[in-house]
Parts: sequence; C-alpha cells; structure tokens
Amino acid sequence: MGDQKSIQPLLILLLILMLLNGLSQLWAFPFSPSLDLDVIPRTTVFYKGMLGCNGFMGSSQNYSTLLLEEEAGRLYVGGRGALYALNTSNISTSANLNIDWNATPEQKKQCLNKGRNNQTECYNHIRFLQRYNETHLYVCGTNAFRPLCAYIATEGFNFSSGFEEGRERCPYDPAKGYTGLLIDGEMFTASQYEFRSSPDIRRNFPFPTLRTEEAPTRWLLEADFVGSVLLKESINSSIGDDDKIYFFFTERSQEQIAYPSQTKVSRVARVCKNDWGGQRTLQRKWTTFLKARMVCSVPEYELHLNILRDMFVLQGRDVQSSIFYGVFGLEWKNIKASAICQYAFSDVRRVFEGPYMEMQDSKWREYTGKVPEPRPGSCITDLHRSQGINSSRDLPDSVLTFARRHPLMAKQVHPTGLRTLMFKRSVNYVKIGVHKEPALDGNLYTVLFLGTDNGWLHRAVEVDGEMHIIEELQMFAKPQPIESMVISSVQRSIYIGSHSGVIQVPMSTCQRYTSCYECVFARDPFCGWDGRVCVEISSRSQR
Ligand SMILES: *[C@@H]1O[C@H](CO)[C@@H](O)[C@H](O)[C@H]1NC(C)=O
Ligand SMILES: *[C@@H]1O[C@H](CO)[C@@H](O)[C@H](O)[C@H]1NC(C)=O
Ligand SMILES: *[C@@H]1O[C@H](CO)[C@@H](O)[C@H](O)[C@H]1NC(C)=O
Ligand SMILES: *[C@@H]1O[C@H](CO)[C@@H](O)[C@H](O)[C@H]1NC(C)=O
Ligand SMILES: *[C@@H]1O[C@H](CO)[C@@H](O)[C@H](O)[C@H]1NC(C)=O
Ligand SMILES: *[C@@H]1O[C@H](CO)[C@@H](O)[C@H](O)[C@H]1NC(C)=O
Ligand SMILES: *[C@@H]1O[C@H](CO)[C@@H](O)[C@H](O)[C@H]1NC(C)=O
Ligand SMILES: *[C@@H]1O[C@H](CO)[C@@H](O)[C@H](O)[C@H]1NC(C)=O
Repeated sequence: MGDQKSIQPLLILLLILMLLNGLSQLWAFPFSPSLDLDVIPRTTVFYKGMLGCNGFMGSSQNYSTLLLEEEAGRLYVGGRGALYALNTSNISTSANLNIDWNATPEQKKQCLNKGRNNQTECYNHIRFLQRYNETHLYVCGTNAFRPLCAYIATEGFNFSSGFEEGRERCPYDPAKGYTGLLIDGEMFTASQYEFRSSPDIRRNFPFPTLRTEEAPTRWLLEADFVGSVLLKESINSSIGDDDKIYFFFTERSQEQIAYPSQTKVSRVARVCKNDWGGQRTLQRKWTTFLKARMVCSVPEYELHLNILRDMFVLQGRDVQSSIFYGVFGLEWKNIKASAICQYAFSDVRRVFEGPYMEMQDSKWREYTGKVPEPRPGSCITDLHRSQGINSSRDLPDSVLTFARRHPLMAKQVHPTGLRTLMFKRSVNYVKIGVHKEPALDGNLYTVLFLGTDNGWLHRAVEVDGEMHIIEELQMFAKPQPIESMVISSVQRSIYIGSHSGVIQVPMSTCQRYTSCYECVFARDPFCGWDGRVCVEISSRSQR
C-alpha cells in the first residue's frame, strides 16, 4: 500500500517533466510523438505587429474589473483608485468619463501601520462593479484594507450618495479570489473576505444575510473563487421559480482522491436564488448549498489538472443547453501547463441530482441511506408550495439537518468526451471567453479566446472536434497577466484589462492573411477570400 502511494506521485512528476521539457529523446517511451497533444499556434503576432487595436491607459493601474453594457455602448472599468466609463466602439476616444476614488491618506497610513504592502495593498482596488438598477451601478473597493461600497449614477457618471460599509461584501486583499453577482437588487458574493476569516458564499442583501455553514461540517475549505453565474432554470419551467447561482472554485480536498500527490480539487457549488435560510436549523445559512468535484484530465498522460483558474458559461438558447468552459492548471506553481475542459450543464445537473457524500469515521463515503423529502438542495417550487412549503423556512427539520451535513455530492462532473478539449504545455492560461461564429460552410464554430499570465491572447477554434490555435497575439509590450476579459459580439471586439491598461482587440484580423492559401488554411471561421483579399465574413452582406 505504502509503496504504491509513493510511486504514483513520482511517476506523475516524471511524466510531467517529460511533457514540459519536451526532451525529444524521451518521447519514445511511454508515448510516441503522435501522442503529443500539445497544440501549437499557427501564427505568432508580436506587440509591434498588432493591427486594429485600441488602447486605454488612465492615470491608474490594475484594470481588473470590467462591466460591458452592449446596448448603452459602454465599457465600465474598475482600476486602482479610479473608475472609467469607456465607449465600446473605440475605447481610446477622448470623451471618456472617470471617477477618482482613492483611499484617504489617513486610511493609507492605517494600512501601512498594519504592516501591509505599500506598493499593492494600501490602495483602493475596485473589485466589484455591476448594474444595480436602471439608473445606478454598485461598486466596491478594497479601500486600503477597509472595503467600502457605493452607488454610481450612470447618467453623469458620479457617486450618487455616501459610502456603505463593504467589509462583508468585498475582500480586503486585492489579489484574493473573489466573485459576485447583483441580481434583482440582491447581492451574492464569494471570497475569503478578511485576512483570517474562512471563505464564504454570501447573500449580502436584502436582509437576512445568508452564509455557508462551518460546523459540524465545514462546507468550504480554503476555497479560492474564480467565477459565478445565474442560470434561470425557471424560464419555461412547469414548476415555477427554480433559479440557481453556480460558483466555481478550487479548495483543499476533504474526500480521499486517487492522486495522493494532489491536495486540492476543483469544484462547482450551487445555491437557490430564492433561499431564505432555515427557521431554527440553518438559520441565516443556505439551506440549498451543494457542491461537486469537477474533473479535468488528459488520460494519455495520466495528468489531472486540479486547479481551476477561470470559467466561462456559454448560455444556449435555453438554460438546459448551457456549456461550461473551464481553464485548469497544475498545483505545482513552477510548472506551466493549461487545459480547457468543457462540461454540459445536463451533466452538472445530473451530479447534483445524484447521491450525496457523508462523513463516517472522519472519512467521506457515499451515503446510501434514506434521503428526506423534499430533496435537500432543491429550490422551493410550485410543487413544494402545493404541499404547503412556501419558503425555505417552512422546510422540515429533517431536511435541514440532512442538508447541513451533506454538502458534497458523491459523483464527479466529468468533461464532455471524458477528456480535455485542449491541452497546452509551457503556457498558463488565466482567462477564457467563448464565442460562437457562423462560417461560410454553414457551420457554427466555437472560438475560444484565452488570456495568459504573461499578456498573450490565444485564439483557438474547434474544427471536427479538434482545437486549433489560429494565432497567439502579444497584447502588451511588458509581460503582465491578463486580469479581465469580456467579449462584445456587437462591436466584434475583445476587451482585455491588465496591470497597465485596457486593450480592445478585434475578434479577427483577416487582412493579416495575404494569400488565398493562408486565408483558407488558417481555419479562421471569421475570414473568407473574396477573390482579391482576405476579408471578415461578417462585414459582407453578400456572402
Ligand atoms: C461612441 O462613439 C461613437 C462614434 O464616435 C458615437 O457615435 C457614440 O455615440 C459613442 N457612444 C457613447 C455611449 O458615447
Ligand atoms: C480610436 O480613436 C483613436 C483616438 O481618437 C484613434 O487614433 C484611432 O484611430 C481610433 N481607432 C479606430 C479603430 O478607429
Ligand atoms: C514603500 O516602502 C518602501 C520600504 O519601506 C520604501 O522604500 C518606499 O519608498 C515606499 N513606497 C511608497 C510609494 O510609499
Ligand atoms: C436606483 O438605486 C438608487 C440607489 O439606491 C436610487 O437612488 C434610485 O432612485 C434607483 N433608481 C430607480 C430607477 O429605481
Ligand atoms: C452628478 O451628475 C449629475 C449630472 O451631471 C448632476 O446633476 C448631479 O448634481 C451630480 N451629483 C453629484 C452628487 O455630484
Ligand atoms: C420558452 O418557450 C417558448 C415557446 O415554446 C419559446 O419560444 C422560447 O424561446 C422559450 N424560451 C426560452 C428562454 O427557452
Ligand atoms: C403557505 O401559503 C398558503 C397560501 O398563502 C397558506 O395557506 C399556508 O398556510 C402557507 N403555509 C405555511 C407553512 O406558511
Ligand atoms: C498592480 O499592478 C502592478 C504593476 O503595475 C503589479 O505589480 C501588482 O501586482 C498589481 N496588483 C494587483 C493586485 O494585481
């Protein structure tokens, strides 16, 4: 037993080293070069060769928060000590609006006295920026380790009132994993807010605030959040209100996993939007919290990528056909590698409808006993209401007691095809955006936009089930991580935020292909040869 356990991590490590060093003499064993799944970009465009980009550089840095409002033609940007309202058609134009919002000198001093970093932490980093109602945005900043929130009137782009306490809503640390949503006047966030507190998924308002449970079963263990999404499962549903919020994160694993060298697991968790907490049990706690493991592995290499870095949810025509695209990496920070895994929403849902885990003798095992009714973790729908259960506060104690001790699902969420969509070594992707593009052949192509930790953007397209990286683009002269990314299908642009600025990149740059051959063989679904030059298909009404 002991021997097997110690050999496996070694084997994995050896495989990884072979993979990543690309030592050609090693490729003979145990796999041939044909098994080299690494995808190589077809073209490389350096910073100087970039065409058609617009840049925005304000007086601040760390442009980490973006909010795109296509209809109004606005891109709202949250930086360090400043907010901007940019014009989506060209973010470089001078008519841009801004708000300066710095931490006061007094607050900065207190931050420094706490021993915080004067280069990064003792500033007001904008971390939350979303639409509140028709006329206002809601914004939160770290405010030199004393978070504050405020309302901004979009007309005139100015603060409309005083500041609100942000301590429970926004992390203190500008680099801490954080995600949040503002829906119908309700604020949901997930982070490890304070330096010493446990990570938590919260509904901050309206009253009562809801949280995750810490005892006897801790629902989250050192969770590092990367994203969240509302899926309106009640649309066209026969059972009424069933909307849920999904959170994506990596945490320390509680259950035993097959790979002893790994200590972390990627997760998806969900709560019901209409949760109001329990009456006595789970008072002011979620009654619907459930989580499941997300698996992303390269079977050929026996490689399990367990760190989730970003998640993009592509919503289909209906919620049921939504697809989750995750970017995964390795736990070992000094080894660069990335994988993209794709999950069908129906598979995610099936896991949440499956068996639960239970802690028995300090080990997590599948629970095979009786499950109380209504099923723990399900939202209050018309079905419940017909049984006299009008809200989560009417749930029987047996259901709440069960929910409290069974936050983890027994089955894992596997990616479509049980494998990665794409694997890339020597590169750390940190952000992903996905777009569907109709091409001349009548097919709808999936295009991935992948941002790296050193300022590159990769554009990849799926052709016959295989991913091709059409091009890699260097977005910034100085290497820096891509911190935020949004896609506008109206402007046909990608907006990318980083330490030094925001860049607007066209979805495609067909004029870069100068011959018919290149234009066609680039497999770029955006481009077509018009007889003379390579052009954007979308720009031609006559195809
Ligand atoms: C953005 O710029 C375009 C072109 O200059 C202009 O027509 C449009 O009104 C501007 N949008 C906003 C929201 O200012
Ligand atoms: C965007 O605006 C800037 C400044 O007005 C201008 O130099 C640039 O050419 C514009 N970009 C495009 C693509 O029109
Ligand atoms: C930050 O602290 C370092 C070392 O204490 C000091 O040299 C530097 O001038 C400080 N920088 C700022 C911006 O206060
Ligand atoms: C939006 O919210 C703000 C801040 O609470 C409030 O002042 C404003 O009246 C609201 N606007 C509408 C249209 O409800
Ligand atoms: C915000 O801007 C609007 C429109 O420019 C102005 O009427 C209002 O007085 C400003 N509000 C504050 C608090 O400065
Ligand atoms: C709801 O159902 C109607 C009628 O079947 C359909 O037209 C509509 O697209 C559906 N909406 C969604 C969001 O699925
Ligand atoms: C639920 O609502 C119905 C109709 O409003 C009411 O008759 C019933 O007493 C409520 N049940 C509980 C448990 O409050
Ligand atoms: C902000 O940007 C600077 C470089 O301009 C970088 O050193 C720092 O790590 C960034 N801070 C955060 C929180 O991203």
